[in-house]
Amino acid sequence: MKELSPAERAAIPVLCAGNEHMAAVIEQVIARQKGSVAAHRRSLNSLSGTPSMLSYEAPLLPLCVKSAKGGRITDVDGNEYIDCHLAYTATILGHNPPQVLDAVKRGLDAGIDAGHLFEEQVDLAELVQSMVPDVERVAFFHTGGEAVSAATRLCRATKRKTRIAKFEGCYHGSNEVGLHNTWMALSGMLQAGSLDNIMTMAATAGAVTREEEYLILPYNVDVALELLRQHAHELACVVMDPAPPFMSIWLDDAKRFVTDVGAICDEMDVPLIFDEVVCGFRLAEGGARQWSGHKPQMSCFGKVVSGLGVPLSMVAGDAKYVDRISTGGLFRDAMMGKAWVASTGSGNFVSVLASLAQMRYLKEHHSSLMARIDSNASYLRERLSHFAAKSGLPVSLQGNSRLQMQLSIGKKEPESHTYRDMMASSSQEAFRTLMAMVFYLRLNNIYTKIIPTMNLSAAHTDEDMSMLADGIERAVLQMDKDGMLLW
Ligand SMILES: Cc1ncc(COP(=O)(O)O)c(C=O)c1O
Repeated sequence: MKELSPAERAAIPVLCAGNEHMAAVIEQVIARQKGSVAAHRRSLNSLSGTPSMLSYEAPLLPLCVKSAKGGRITDVDGNEYIDCHLAYTATILGHNPPQVLDAVKRGLDAGIDAGHLFEEQVDLAELVQSMVPDVERVAFFHTGGEAVSAATRLCRATKRKTRIAKFEGCYHGSNEVGLHNTWMALSGMLQAGSLDNIMTMAATAGAVTREEEYLILPYNVDVALELLRQHAHELACVVMDPAPPFMSIWLDDAKRFVTDVGAICDEMDVPLIFDEVVCGFRLAEGGARQWSGHKPQMSCFGKVVSGLGVPLSMVAGDAKYVDRISTGGLFRDAMMGKAWVASTGSGNFVSVLASLAQMRYLKEHHSSLMARIDSNASYLRERLSHFAAKSGLPVSLQGNSRLQMQLSIGKKEPESHTYRDMMASSSQEAFRTLMAMVFYLRLNNIYTKIIPTMNLSAAHTDEDMSMLADGIERAVLQMDKDGMLLW
Protein backbone atom coordinates (compact mmCIF):
# COMPACT_ATOMS: atom_id res chain seq x y z
CA MET A 1 0.00 0.00 0.00
CA LYS A 2 2.94 2.37 0.48
CA GLU A 3 3.01 3.23 -3.22
CA LEU A 4 -0.56 4.60 -3.03
CA SER A 5 -1.69 8.17 -2.47
CA PRO A 6 -2.62 9.24 1.08
CA ALA A 7 -6.28 9.44 0.01
CA GLU A 8 -6.16 5.87 -1.31
CA ARG A 9 -4.40 4.62 1.82
CA ALA A 10 -7.25 6.10 3.85
CA ALA A 11 -10.12 4.99 1.59
CA ILE A 12 -9.14 1.45 0.65
CA PRO A 13 -9.21 -0.05 4.17
CA VAL A 14 -12.67 1.48 4.68
CA LEU A 15 -13.81 -0.08 1.42
CA CYS A 16 -12.32 -3.47 2.33
CA ALA A 17 -13.69 -3.32 5.90
CA GLY A 18 -11.55 -6.31 6.89
CA ASN A 19 -12.63 -8.49 3.95
CA GLU A 20 -9.44 -10.27 2.93
CA HIS A 21 -10.78 -11.24 -0.51
CA MET A 22 -11.40 -7.60 -1.32
CA ALA A 23 -7.93 -6.70 -0.05
CA ALA A 24 -6.51 -9.37 -2.39
CA VAL A 25 -8.46 -7.91 -5.32
CA ILE A 26 -6.96 -4.50 -4.62
CA GLU A 27 -3.47 -6.07 -4.51
CA GLN A 28 -4.12 -7.70 -7.89
CA VAL A 29 -5.24 -4.37 -9.37
CA ILE A 30 -2.12 -2.67 -8.03
CA ALA A 31 0.09 -5.43 -9.45
CA ARG A 32 -1.43 -5.30 -12.96
CA GLN A 33 -1.26 -1.51 -13.24
CA LYS A 34 2.10 -0.71 -11.67
CA GLY A 35 2.83 1.98 -14.23
CA SER A 36 -0.48 3.75 -13.53
CA VAL A 37 0.10 3.58 -9.78
CA ALA A 38 3.59 5.07 -10.20
CA ALA A 39 2.31 7.83 -12.52
CA HIS A 40 -0.48 8.74 -10.10
CA ARG A 41 1.97 8.81 -7.20
CA ARG A 42 4.36 11.00 -9.22
CA SER A 43 1.55 13.38 -10.21
CA LEU A 44 0.75 14.16 -6.57
CA ASN A 45 3.93 16.22 -6.20
CA SER A 46 3.03 18.66 -8.96
CA LEU A 47 -0.51 18.28 -10.24
CA SER A 48 -3.83 18.91 -8.65
CA GLY A 49 -7.42 18.75 -9.78
CA THR A 50 -6.96 16.55 -12.84
CA PRO A 51 -9.83 14.15 -13.54
CA SER A 52 -7.91 11.49 -11.62
CA MET A 53 -8.08 13.58 -8.45
CA LEU A 54 -11.60 14.97 -8.33
CA SER A 55 -12.91 14.50 -4.84
CA TYR A 56 -16.29 13.07 -5.74
CA GLU A 57 -15.81 11.56 -9.17
CA ALA A 58 -12.38 10.03 -9.60
CA PRO A 59 -11.94 6.30 -9.31
CA LEU A 60 -9.46 5.11 -6.72
CA LEU A 61 -6.34 3.70 -8.41
CA PRO A 62 -6.94 5.65 -11.64
CA LEU A 63 -5.48 4.41 -14.90
CA CYS A 64 -2.73 6.35 -16.57
CA VAL A 65 -3.92 6.13 -20.16
CA LYS A 66 -1.49 5.66 -23.02
CA SER A 67 -3.87 5.50 -25.97
CA ALA A 68 -7.55 5.25 -26.82
CA LYS A 69 -9.48 4.03 -29.84
CA GLY A 70 -13.18 3.38 -30.41
CA GLY A 71 -14.70 1.99 -27.22
CA ARG A 72 -11.38 1.00 -25.65
CA ILE A 73 -8.49 2.54 -23.76
CA THR A 74 -5.00 1.17 -23.13
CA ASP A 75 -3.02 1.99 -20.00
CA VAL A 76 0.74 2.53 -19.64
CA ASP A 77 1.11 -1.10 -18.55
CA GLY A 78 -0.41 -2.30 -21.82
CA ASN A 79 -3.75 -3.45 -20.33
CA GLU A 80 -6.70 -2.83 -22.62
CA TYR A 81 -10.12 -1.91 -21.18
CA ILE A 82 -13.65 -1.46 -22.42
CA ASP A 83 -14.13 2.20 -21.58
CA CYS A 84 -17.40 2.92 -19.77
CA HIS A 85 -16.20 6.28 -18.46
CA LEU A 86 -16.08 7.98 -21.89
CA ALA A 87 -15.15 11.42 -20.65
CA TYR A 88 -18.31 11.71 -18.56
CA THR A 89 -20.47 10.80 -21.65
CA ALA A 90 -18.80 13.30 -24.01
CA THR A 91 -17.09 10.63 -26.14
CA ILE A 92 -20.26 9.69 -27.98
CA LEU A 93 -18.49 8.69 -31.22
CA GLY A 94 -15.85 6.70 -29.35
CA HIS A 95 -12.22 7.73 -28.98
CA ASN A 96 -10.34 9.21 -31.88
CA PRO A 97 -13.14 9.01 -34.47
CA PRO A 98 -11.43 9.06 -37.90
CA GLN A 99 -14.04 11.36 -39.44
CA VAL A 100 -13.27 14.10 -36.86
CA LEU A 101 -9.53 13.42 -36.63
CA ASP A 102 -9.06 13.67 -40.42
CA ALA A 103 -11.01 16.94 -40.66
CA VAL A 104 -8.96 18.48 -37.85
CA LYS A 105 -5.66 17.29 -39.36
CA ARG A 106 -6.61 18.74 -42.76
CA GLY A 107 -7.60 22.08 -41.24
CA LEU A 108 -4.66 22.57 -38.90
CA ASP A 109 -2.24 23.82 -41.55
CA ALA A 110 -4.18 27.10 -41.74
CA GLY A 111 -2.34 28.03 -38.55
CA ILE A 112 -5.09 30.21 -37.02
CA ASP A 113 -5.25 30.14 -33.21
CA ALA A 114 -7.52 32.35 -31.14
CA GLY A 115 -8.89 35.87 -31.06
CA HIS A 116 -9.94 36.06 -34.73
CA LEU A 117 -13.07 35.70 -36.77
CA PHE A 118 -12.84 32.82 -39.25
CA GLU A 119 -15.40 31.12 -41.46
CA GLU A 120 -15.59 27.85 -39.57
CA GLN A 121 -17.07 29.73 -36.57
CA VAL A 122 -19.93 30.93 -38.75
CA ASP A 123 -20.30 27.44 -40.28
CA LEU A 124 -20.63 25.97 -36.80
CA ALA A 125 -23.15 28.57 -35.61
CA GLU A 126 -25.23 28.05 -38.79
CA LEU A 127 -25.05 24.28 -38.34
CA VAL A 128 -26.47 24.63 -34.81
CA GLN A 129 -29.21 26.91 -36.17
CA SER A 130 -30.06 24.26 -38.76
CA MET A 131 -30.36 21.57 -36.07
CA VAL A 132 -31.95 23.30 -33.09
CA PRO A 133 -35.38 24.91 -33.61
CA ASP A 134 -35.67 28.71 -33.31
CA VAL A 135 -32.08 29.57 -32.49
CA GLU A 136 -31.22 33.13 -33.51
CA ARG A 137 -27.69 33.38 -32.11
CA VAL A 138 -24.91 31.03 -30.98
CA ALA A 139 -21.99 32.00 -28.71
CA PHE A 140 -18.98 29.79 -28.00
CA PHE A 141 -17.39 29.04 -24.65
CA HIS A 142 -15.16 26.26 -23.33
CA THR A 143 -17.01 24.33 -20.63
CA GLY A 144 -20.63 23.51 -19.94
CA GLY A 145 -20.38 25.34 -16.62
CA GLU A 146 -19.08 28.47 -18.33
CA ALA A 147 -21.97 28.41 -20.82
CA VAL A 148 -24.59 28.13 -18.06
CA SER A 149 -22.92 30.88 -16.07
CA ALA A 150 -22.84 33.17 -19.14
CA ALA A 151 -26.51 32.46 -19.90
CA THR A 152 -27.55 33.45 -16.36
CA ARG A 153 -25.54 36.68 -16.62
CA LEU A 154 -27.23 37.50 -19.94
CA CYS A 155 -30.62 37.06 -18.25
CA ARG A 156 -29.65 39.19 -15.28
CA ALA A 157 -28.40 41.92 -17.62
CA THR A 158 -31.56 41.82 -19.71
CA LYS A 159 -34.12 41.54 -16.93
CA ARG A 160 -32.20 43.72 -14.42
CA LYS A 161 -33.01 41.24 -11.66
CA THR A 162 -30.66 38.97 -9.75
CA ARG A 163 -32.65 36.05 -8.35
CA ILE A 164 -32.26 32.75 -10.17
CA ALA A 165 -34.57 29.76 -9.79
CA LYS A 166 -33.00 26.34 -10.02
CA PHE A 167 -34.06 22.79 -9.18
CA GLU A 168 -32.93 20.77 -6.22
CA GLY A 169 -30.51 17.98 -7.13
CA CYS A 170 -29.40 19.52 -10.43
CA TYR A 171 -25.77 20.19 -11.27
CA HIS A 172 -24.93 22.91 -13.78
CA GLY A 173 -21.13 23.03 -13.66
CA SER A 174 -18.52 24.68 -11.51
CA ASN A 175 -20.32 27.98 -11.01
CA GLU A 176 -22.40 29.36 -8.16
CA VAL A 177 -25.75 28.21 -9.59
CA GLY A 178 -24.44 24.74 -10.33
CA LEU A 179 -22.96 24.34 -6.89
CA HIS A 180 -26.01 25.18 -4.83
CA ASN A 181 -28.46 22.42 -3.85
CA THR A 182 -26.84 20.17 -6.38
CA TRP A 183 -26.98 16.38 -6.51
CA MET A 184 -26.41 14.50 -3.32
CA ALA A 185 -23.17 12.74 -4.28
CA LEU A 186 -21.57 16.17 -4.49
CA SER A 187 -23.28 17.89 -1.59
CA GLY A 188 -23.00 14.76 0.56
CA MET A 189 -26.42 15.26 2.10
CA LEU A 190 -30.09 15.05 1.34
CA GLN A 191 -32.07 17.95 2.75
CA ALA A 192 -35.09 17.14 4.87
CA GLY A 193 -38.01 19.48 5.41
CA SER A 194 -40.65 21.24 3.46
CA LEU A 195 -40.56 21.38 -0.33
CA ASP A 196 -42.02 24.88 -0.50
CA ASN A 197 -39.15 26.43 1.40
CA ILE A 198 -35.97 24.60 0.46
CA MET A 199 -32.97 26.16 2.14
CA THR A 200 -30.26 27.43 -0.22
CA MET A 201 -27.21 25.28 0.45
CA ALA A 202 -23.72 25.33 -1.04
CA ALA A 203 -22.41 21.91 -2.03
CA THR A 204 -18.76 22.84 -1.77
CA ALA A 205 -16.32 24.84 0.28
CA GLY A 206 -15.72 28.24 -1.27
CA ALA A 207 -19.15 28.75 -2.84
CA VAL A 208 -20.82 31.85 -1.47
CA THR A 209 -24.42 31.43 -0.38
CA ARG A 210 -26.66 34.46 -0.64
CA GLU A 211 -30.09 33.23 0.24
CA GLU A 212 -31.77 36.04 -1.70
CA GLU A 213 -29.99 35.12 -4.97
CA TYR A 214 -31.61 31.72 -5.46
CA LEU A 215 -35.02 30.18 -5.39
CA ILE A 216 -34.59 26.42 -4.97
CA LEU A 217 -37.44 24.42 -6.47
CA PRO A 218 -38.27 20.72 -6.08
CA TYR A 219 -38.17 18.76 -9.34
CA ASN A 220 -41.34 17.15 -10.67
CA VAL A 221 -43.50 18.39 -7.82
CA ASP A 222 -46.49 20.74 -8.31
CA VAL A 223 -45.27 22.98 -5.48
CA ALA A 224 -42.49 24.10 -7.85
CA LEU A 225 -45.06 25.46 -10.30
CA GLU A 226 -46.85 27.39 -7.57
CA LEU A 227 -43.54 28.83 -6.29
CA LEU A 228 -42.61 29.88 -9.80
CA ARG A 229 -45.84 31.85 -10.19
CA GLN A 230 -45.44 33.45 -6.76
CA HIS A 231 -41.85 34.58 -7.36
CA ALA A 232 -41.95 35.28 -11.11
CA HIS A 233 -41.82 39.05 -10.58
CA GLU A 234 -38.37 38.87 -8.94
CA LEU A 235 -36.70 36.24 -11.15
CA ALA A 236 -33.92 36.92 -13.66
CA CYS A 237 -34.34 33.40 -15.04
CA VAL A 238 -35.05 29.74 -14.39
CA VAL A 239 -32.21 27.27 -15.02
CA MET A 240 -33.33 23.76 -15.77
CA ASP A 241 -31.78 20.49 -16.90
CA PRO A 242 -34.66 19.13 -19.02
CA ALA A 243 -33.64 15.53 -18.28
CA PRO A 244 -31.54 15.37 -15.11
CA PRO A 245 -29.79 12.08 -14.26
CA PHE A 246 -32.21 11.19 -11.45
CA MET A 247 -35.13 11.40 -13.94
CA SER A 248 -33.38 9.23 -16.49
CA ILE A 249 -35.75 6.28 -15.99
CA TRP A 250 -38.82 8.52 -16.04
CA LEU A 251 -38.25 10.60 -19.14
CA ASP A 252 -41.99 10.94 -19.87
CA ASP A 253 -42.48 12.60 -16.47
CA ALA A 254 -39.49 14.86 -17.13
CA LYS A 255 -40.95 15.91 -20.48
CA ARG A 256 -44.31 16.74 -18.94
CA PHE A 257 -42.66 18.70 -16.14
CA VAL A 258 -40.43 20.68 -18.52
CA THR A 259 -43.41 21.73 -20.60
CA ASP A 260 -45.35 22.73 -17.44
CA VAL A 261 -42.44 24.85 -16.22
CA GLY A 262 -41.95 26.29 -19.71
CA ALA A 263 -45.63 27.28 -19.98
CA ILE A 264 -45.47 29.19 -16.68
CA CYS A 265 -42.21 30.90 -17.67
CA ASP A 266 -43.79 32.03 -20.94
CA GLU A 267 -46.95 33.21 -19.22
CA MET A 268 -45.04 35.12 -16.53
CA ASP A 269 -42.31 36.40 -18.91
CA VAL A 270 -39.43 34.73 -17.06
CA PRO A 271 -36.58 33.57 -19.32
CA LEU A 272 -35.93 29.84 -19.20
CA ILE A 273 -32.45 28.38 -19.72
CA PHE A 274 -32.21 24.74 -20.76
CA ASP A 275 -28.99 23.19 -19.48
CA GLU A 276 -28.54 20.60 -22.23
CA VAL A 277 -24.90 19.94 -21.44
CA VAL A 278 -25.56 16.21 -21.02
CA CYS A 279 -28.85 15.63 -22.83
CA GLY A 280 -28.34 17.99 -25.78
CA PHE A 281 -28.31 16.29 -29.20
CA ARG A 282 -28.88 12.94 -27.52
CA LEU A 283 -32.62 13.03 -26.89
CA ALA A 284 -33.22 14.33 -30.41
CA GLU A 285 -31.21 15.78 -33.29
CA GLY A 286 -32.65 19.19 -32.38
CA GLY A 287 -31.86 18.79 -28.67
CA ALA A 288 -34.29 19.13 -25.77
CA ARG A 289 -36.33 21.73 -27.65
CA GLN A 290 -37.27 19.21 -30.30
CA TRP A 291 -37.72 16.43 -27.72
CA SER A 292 -39.96 18.46 -25.38
CA GLY A 293 -41.64 20.71 -27.92
CA HIS A 294 -40.86 23.71 -25.70
CA LYS A 295 -38.71 26.65 -26.79
CA PRO A 296 -36.69 28.18 -23.96
CA GLN A 297 -34.93 31.54 -24.34
CA MET A 298 -31.48 29.89 -24.32
CA SER A 299 -30.02 26.38 -24.50
CA CYS A 300 -26.55 25.54 -23.20
CA PHE A 301 -24.60 22.77 -24.91
CA GLY A 302 -21.32 21.06 -23.99
CA LYS A 303 -19.87 17.56 -23.82
CA VAL A 304 -20.84 15.92 -27.17
CA VAL A 305 -20.42 19.18 -29.09
CA SER A 306 -16.65 18.99 -28.45
CA GLY A 307 -14.61 17.01 -30.93
CA LEU A 308 -11.60 14.91 -29.81
CA GLY A 309 -12.09 16.19 -26.26
CA VAL A 310 -11.02 19.75 -27.22
CA PRO A 311 -13.38 21.75 -25.02
CA LEU A 312 -16.12 23.77 -26.65
CA SER A 313 -19.50 24.73 -25.28
CA MET A 314 -22.28 26.94 -26.58
CA VAL A 315 -25.13 29.21 -25.60
CA ALA A 316 -27.75 29.14 -28.34
CA GLY A 317 -30.92 31.17 -28.22
CA ASP A 318 -32.80 34.43 -28.62
CA ALA A 319 -30.94 37.45 -30.01
CA LYS A 320 -32.60 39.53 -27.27
CA TYR A 321 -30.41 37.77 -24.69
CA VAL A 322 -27.36 36.44 -26.54
CA ASP A 323 -26.72 39.72 -28.37
CA ARG A 324 -26.03 41.37 -25.03
CA ILE A 325 -22.54 39.89 -25.44
CA SER A 326 -21.78 41.92 -28.58
CA THR A 327 -20.53 45.42 -28.00
CA GLY A 328 -20.84 46.57 -31.59
CA GLY A 329 -17.31 47.97 -31.46
CA LEU A 330 -17.89 50.77 -29.00
CA PHE A 331 -16.29 50.35 -25.62
CA ARG A 332 -18.86 52.53 -23.95
CA ASP A 333 -21.51 49.98 -24.93
CA ALA A 334 -20.24 48.01 -21.96
CA MET A 335 -21.89 50.70 -19.88
CA MET A 336 -25.18 50.34 -21.70
CA GLY A 337 -26.50 47.02 -20.50
CA LYS A 338 -23.99 44.87 -22.36
CA ALA A 339 -22.74 41.79 -20.55
CA TRP A 340 -19.10 40.70 -20.49
CA VAL A 341 -18.71 36.94 -20.80
CA ALA A 342 -15.62 36.86 -23.02
CA SER A 343 -12.42 34.87 -22.66
CA THR A 344 -9.17 34.79 -24.62
CA GLY A 345 -9.57 31.37 -26.17
CA SER A 346 -13.33 31.14 -26.73
CA GLY A 347 -14.15 29.98 -30.25
CA ASN A 348 -10.48 29.16 -30.91
CA PHE A 349 -9.58 27.51 -34.20
CA VAL A 350 -8.79 23.97 -33.04
CA SER A 351 -11.86 23.62 -30.84
CA VAL A 352 -14.12 24.99 -33.59
CA LEU A 353 -12.58 22.72 -36.26
CA ALA A 354 -13.06 19.69 -34.01
CA SER A 355 -16.58 20.68 -33.00
CA LEU A 356 -17.62 21.41 -36.58
CA ALA A 357 -16.46 17.97 -37.75
CA GLN A 358 -18.12 16.30 -34.76
CA MET A 359 -21.43 18.14 -35.19
CA ARG A 360 -21.53 17.55 -38.97
CA TYR A 361 -21.08 13.85 -38.36
CA LEU A 362 -23.64 13.87 -35.56
CA LYS A 363 -26.20 15.60 -37.77
CA GLU A 364 -25.65 13.37 -40.79
CA HIS A 365 -25.71 10.10 -38.86
CA HIS A 366 -27.91 11.00 -35.90
CA SER A 367 -30.47 8.23 -36.16
CA SER A 368 -27.97 5.43 -36.85
CA LEU A 369 -25.62 6.61 -34.06
CA MET A 370 -28.42 6.77 -31.51
CA ALA A 371 -29.85 3.44 -32.68
CA ARG A 372 -26.44 1.87 -32.11
CA ILE A 373 -26.19 3.30 -28.58
CA ASP A 374 -29.75 2.21 -27.82
CA SER A 375 -29.12 -1.31 -29.08
CA ASN A 376 -25.88 -1.58 -27.10
CA ALA A 377 -27.79 -0.57 -23.98
CA SER A 378 -30.66 -2.98 -24.70
CA TYR A 379 -28.24 -5.84 -25.20
CA LEU A 380 -26.56 -5.14 -21.85
CA ARG A 381 -29.88 -4.64 -20.05
CA GLU A 382 -31.20 -7.97 -21.33
CA ARG A 383 -28.01 -9.86 -20.58
CA LEU A 384 -28.04 -8.55 -16.99
CA SER A 385 -31.71 -9.24 -16.55
CA HIS A 386 -31.21 -12.91 -17.61
CA PHE A 387 -28.18 -13.13 -15.39
CA ALA A 388 -30.08 -11.68 -12.40
CA ALA A 389 -32.98 -14.11 -12.95
CA LYS A 390 -30.61 -17.09 -13.19
CA SER A 391 -28.23 -16.18 -10.37
CA GLY A 392 -30.67 -14.47 -8.01
CA LEU A 393 -28.20 -11.56 -7.74
CA PRO A 394 -30.12 -8.30 -8.32
CA VAL A 395 -27.74 -6.49 -10.64
CA SER A 396 -29.29 -4.27 -13.31
CA LEU A 397 -28.56 -1.46 -15.72
CA GLN A 398 -30.16 1.80 -14.53
CA GLY A 399 -30.89 4.84 -16.63
CA ASN A 400 -31.72 5.72 -20.20
CA SER A 401 -29.23 5.00 -22.96
CA ARG A 402 -29.55 8.59 -24.22
CA LEU A 403 -28.30 9.95 -20.90
CA GLN A 404 -26.05 8.42 -18.26
CA MET A 405 -26.34 4.81 -17.20
CA GLN A 406 -24.86 2.88 -14.34
CA LEU A 407 -24.91 -0.54 -12.80
CA SER A 408 -27.18 -0.89 -9.83
CA ILE A 409 -27.57 -3.48 -7.13
CA GLY A 410 -30.82 -4.29 -5.37
CA LYS A 411 -32.34 -0.84 -5.84
CA LYS A 412 -35.76 -0.33 -4.26
CA GLU A 413 -38.53 1.25 -6.31
CA PRO A 414 -38.66 4.96 -5.25
CA GLU A 415 -41.95 6.09 -3.74
CA SER A 416 -42.39 8.88 -6.26
CA HIS A 417 -40.63 10.10 -9.39
CA THR A 418 -38.77 12.88 -7.60
CA TYR A 419 -35.20 13.68 -6.67
CA ARG A 420 -35.60 13.10 -2.95
CA ASP A 421 -37.31 9.73 -3.31
CA MET A 422 -34.84 8.61 -5.94
CA MET A 423 -31.94 9.44 -3.63
CA ALA A 424 -33.65 7.89 -0.61
CA SER A 425 -34.00 4.61 -2.51
CA SER A 426 -30.21 4.02 -2.54
CA SER A 427 -28.59 2.43 0.49
CA GLN A 428 -25.10 3.00 1.92
CA GLU A 429 -24.36 -0.74 1.52
CA ALA A 430 -25.27 -0.64 -2.17
CA PHE A 431 -23.03 2.39 -2.65
CA ARG A 432 -20.09 0.62 -1.02
CA THR A 433 -20.77 -2.49 -3.12
CA LEU A 434 -20.72 -0.39 -6.28
CA MET A 435 -17.45 1.28 -5.27
CA ALA A 436 -15.91 -2.13 -4.66
CA MET A 437 -17.32 -3.46 -7.94
CA VAL A 438 -15.13 -0.98 -9.83
CA PHE A 439 -12.07 -3.09 -8.88
CA TYR A 440 -13.65 -6.42 -9.75
CA LEU A 441 -14.56 -4.88 -13.11
CA ARG A 442 -11.01 -3.61 -13.52
CA LEU A 443 -9.71 -7.19 -13.25
CA ASN A 444 -12.17 -8.01 -16.03
CA ASN A 445 -10.83 -5.23 -18.27
CA ILE A 446 -13.68 -2.77 -17.75
CA TYR A 447 -12.97 0.85 -16.76
CA THR A 448 -15.52 3.13 -15.07
CA LYS A 449 -15.71 6.15 -12.78
CA ILE A 450 -15.83 5.83 -8.98
CA ILE A 451 -19.01 3.77 -9.23
CA PRO A 452 -19.74 1.67 -12.31
CA THR A 453 -21.01 4.19 -14.84
CA MET A 454 -22.04 2.41 -18.02
CA ASN A 455 -21.54 5.17 -20.55
CA LEU A 456 -21.79 3.57 -23.96
CA SER A 457 -20.77 5.01 -27.30
CA ALA A 458 -21.75 4.29 -30.86
CA ALA A 459 -18.23 2.89 -31.27
CA HIS A 460 -18.68 0.04 -28.79
CA THR A 461 -18.74 -3.02 -31.04
CA ASP A 462 -20.66 -6.28 -30.60
CA GLU A 463 -17.43 -7.81 -29.35
CA ASP A 464 -16.97 -4.96 -26.82
CA MET A 465 -20.53 -5.40 -25.60
CA SER A 466 -20.23 -9.13 -25.16
CA MET A 467 -16.90 -8.72 -23.31
CA LEU A 468 -18.58 -6.10 -21.14
CA ALA A 469 -21.56 -8.28 -20.22
CA ASP A 470 -19.32 -11.33 -19.61
CA GLY A 471 -16.99 -9.23 -17.45
CA ILE A 472 -19.81 -7.79 -15.33
CA GLU A 473 -21.27 -11.24 -14.74
CA ARG A 474 -17.90 -12.67 -13.70
CA ALA A 475 -17.27 -9.68 -11.41
CA VAL A 476 -20.67 -9.99 -9.69
CA LEU A 477 -20.33 -13.76 -9.19
CA GLN A 478 -16.87 -13.27 -7.68
CA MET A 479 -18.13 -10.50 -5.39
CA ASP A 480 -20.90 -12.77 -4.19
CA LYS A 481 -18.39 -15.51 -3.44
CA ASP A 482 -16.16 -12.99 -1.62
CA GLY A 483 -19.02 -11.72 0.53
CA MET A 484 -18.77 -8.27 -1.04
CA LEU A 485 -22.25 -8.07 -2.55
CA LEU A 486 -24.38 -6.12 -0.09
CA TRP A 487 -27.40 -3.87 -0.66
C1 LIG B 1 -26.16 18.96 -16.54
C2 LIG B 1 -24.77 19.50 -16.54
N1 LIG B 1 -24.59 20.82 -16.75
C3 LIG B 1 -23.37 21.38 -16.77
C4 LIG B 1 -22.25 20.61 -16.59
C5 LIG B 1 -20.90 21.24 -16.59
O1 LIG B 1 -20.19 20.95 -17.74
P1 LIG B 1 -18.61 21.11 -17.71
O2 LIG B 1 -18.07 20.01 -16.87
O3 LIG B 1 -18.19 20.99 -19.15
O4 LIG B 1 -18.34 22.45 -17.15
C6 LIG B 1 -22.37 19.23 -16.36
C7 LIG B 1 -21.19 18.39 -16.15
O5 LIG B 1 -21.24 17.21 -15.95
C8 LIG B 1 -23.67 18.67 -16.32
O6 LIG B 1 -23.85 17.37 -16.06
